[in-house]
Amino acid sequence: MACAYNTIFPYFLVLSLLISFSASSLAGGREPFACDPNDATTKGLPFCGVTLPIAERVKDLIGRLSLQEKVKLLINNAAAVPRLGIKGYEWWSEALHGVSNVGPGTKFGGDFPGATSFPQVITTASSFNETLWESIGRVVSDEARAMYNGGMAGLTFWSPNVNVFRDPRWGRGQETPGEDPVLAGKYAASYVRGLQGTDGDRLKVAASCKHFTAYDLENWNGVDRFHFNAKVSKQDIEDTFDVPFRMCVKEGNVASVMCSYNQVNGVPTCADPKILEKTIRGQWRLNGYIVSDCDSVGVYYNAQHYTSTPEEAAAEAIKAGLDLDCGPFLGLHSEEAVKKGLLSEADINKALVNTLTVQMRLGLFDGPAQLYGNLGPKDVCTQAHQELALEAARQGLVLLKNHGPVLPLSHIRHRTVAVIGPNSDVTVTMIGNYAGVACGYTSPLQGIGKYAKTTHQQGCKDVACVDDKLFNAAIDASRQADATILVMGLDQSIEAEARDRTGLLLPGRQQELVSNIAKSSRGPTILVLMSGGPIDVTFAKNDPRIAAILWVGYPGQAGGAAIADVLYGITNPGGKLPMTWYPQDYITNLPMTNMAMRSSPSKRYPGRTYRFYNGPVVYPFGHGMSYTHFVHTITTAPTVFSVPIDGHRRGGNVTVSGKAIRVTHARCGRLSLGIQVDVQNVGSKDGSHTLLVFSKPPAGHWAPHKQLVAFKKVHVPAGTRQQVGINIHVCKYLSVVDRSGIRRIPMGDHNIHIGNTKHSVSLQATTLGVIKS
Ligand SMILES: *[C@@H]1O[C@H](CO)[C@@H](O)[C@H](O)[C@H]1NC(C)=O
Ligand SMILES: *[C@@H]1O[C@H](CO)[C@@H](O)[C@H](O)[C@H]1NC(C)=O
Repeated sequence: MACAYNTIFPYFLVLSLLISFSASSLAGGREPFACDPNDATTKGLPFCGVTLPIAERVKDLIGRLSLQEKVKLLINNAAAVPRLGIKGYEWWSEALHGVSNVGPGTKFGGDFPGATSFPQVITTASSFNETLWESIGRVVSDEARAMYNGGMAGLTFWSPNVNVFRDPRWGRGQETPGEDPVLAGKYAASYVRGLQGTDGDRLKVAASCKHFTAYDLENWNGVDRFHFNAKVSKQDIEDTFDVPFRMCVKEGNVASVMCSYNQVNGVPTCADPKILEKTIRGQWRLNGYIVSDCDSVGVYYNAQHYTSTPEEAAAEAIKAGLDLDCGPFLGLHSEEAVKKGLLSEADINKALVNTLTVQMRLGLFDGPAQLYGNLGPKDVCTQAHQELALEAARQGLVLLKNHGPVLPLSHIRHRTVAVIGPNSDVTVTMIGNYAGVACGYTSPLQGIGKYAKTTHQQGCKDVACVDDKLFNAAIDASRQADATILVMGLDQSIEAEARDRTGLLLPGRQQELVSNIAKSSRGPTILVLMSGGPIDVTFAKNDPRIAAILWVGYPGQAGGAAIADVLYGITNPGGKLPMTWYPQDYITNLPMTNMAMRSSPSKRYPGRTYRFYNGPVVYPFGHGMSYTHFVHTITTAPTVFSVPIDGHRRGGNVTVSGKAIRVTHARCGRLSLGIQVDVQNVGSKDGSHTLLVFSKPPAGHWAPHKQLVAFKKVHVPAGTRQQVGINIHVCKYLSVVDRSGIRRIPMGDHNIHIGNTKHSVSLQATTLGVIKS
């Protein structure tokens, strides 16, 4: 195709190249960050040599810097080095679900009044669609590059947040892909690939997986994240907390990891060489830089009093493997630390190698000829991008209940609709936290207005819903209408950064409003819940007059349109809950500060997440209904599966069973267990179905009740069937972790199940190869 264009339209091609070249050098009037060809002092210097290997260029540049210049590059607001033609650089930008202006590196205004605001991550995760996650990352990085070209953004984005959503009260659970470590890891790898691109070592933008590690508490009962010492077992670290980060680094090739504020087992994460140098760099081979959460180093010095002098605090961080401080601390104290002999200049060089390499991979030292230099204002908030935001919301909505079924509504029978509730006509609430300025909004009221004649009543002044002053007007409206849609839930006043929830119920008198309306409304009552975290809506689940419940998370700029499309059946919902919906009782006597994942019946400790908690739930992990009905059967799967282990571990070719083999002793490679699933859509509507494949390992005290080992989303038209192949990587996903933190593959019967379809496969170790004497 490229050839044909060359021969047929050579002039056109040359012209368009010229246009894109001039656009790149002039884009938004941005001058080169470094290596301006018009600068006689840097012309010909090796660090500007685009044809030289990056490692050589970095080495050359570091060799030219003085100690004073170096320490000023250790912070997010990195200083300029004018004598070498290098400008200042602000490292801190954010792009959790769209380009955001939370960090100082990104601003909106002028040619860039807004950017596409996708649903909050918890909603996007509910789609269980890896293609969607990567596509969103691609769009966000297009818009980010365009804004960078226009001088409005940096190229280093501290997203995504992949901490496990361990406790339902966590204020930042909304930012995460949920409670399952493998789901979080898959999300991380896909989103990061979309952001960073896949152009070899080149980076479109640099992502960062945060906050490493065991950070998932803001402020509970007087304990805040700046003072919290998370006591975590080796088993839970390997089995839960490390998993999303390891997948982000190894499968997503992320260019950065951020360490957290809290301590883990008495050591601040940003000062711990075991986790930074040994785990992230040594074991996982991070190709990138490690950055602190904002002012983490200052926090462990000032708030945790971890060291007695600021110089020691600075030295510990850099020696542990920290490369960049979000905050001023390392810029202020590193030089003195070197002078006092606590740190060597070589340690600082090591940090700079990591940050400068990422800047070079981004093209910052390539002068004016920038990759993606043709992207500009026309590439932000495009129709296609905004349609993807709508599509993401549609895919992320989760139908929790559909009695009757009352949904989808009919625009013939339900012509007049009472739209009620504190979240019924919201805009910024829909984009959650770590957002930017959206291109525009469709509120739920506006979305529903496209299908029906609406009357609108707030019912509660805001989500806190402290009084019933607006109840009567809302009840009256519901008496008149063919259907009533209540849009209730939470917002950032209830769950946010620095704010954990105090309970799991709907706030204030919201529940009372919903029940009163359900009693009096003329038509069906539909409850739409907007929230990041789970809500105990047992009352609504059990109330037959509340016909349907739809959880929409924080659905992004087009959320209202997606909600209406689902309610009126233009979209068949296919989202699944990425976290357990616990009853309020669950958190009674459950300290947020207890990090243990596993239950302990003798201590009345319930355990956390579907993997370890076995008690009653409001809705389980993975719950989500459709307007059609899917039937699936496992058609092909082995009943015996042999796991080859190194011959010298055991004499002869014996088959071992009833044991758990160390993963490091198994020949893992691509060892995967393949199953075939037949998925049939036996209903009357086309729909997408997510196959959640769980495995229940052989009984033993280390193992979870069950764990997600694979998932796959398939679109199946009504009345048709599809064969779906699923491969389960045996070492990664069928393994469990023992008390010492060692990952092992238990031999014996693993129970693979998808919904009610079950299959048992027996793993047997087989020694291969030579016997060592
Ligand atoms: C073990 O099995 C392998 C592969 O099946 C075979 O090549 C080898 O000779 C066997 N070794 C012994 C000691 O039986
Ligand atoms: C996954 O998302 C992509 C991008 O929006 C979409 O084209 C595809 O149909 C989705 N897959 C399924 C099975 O719904």
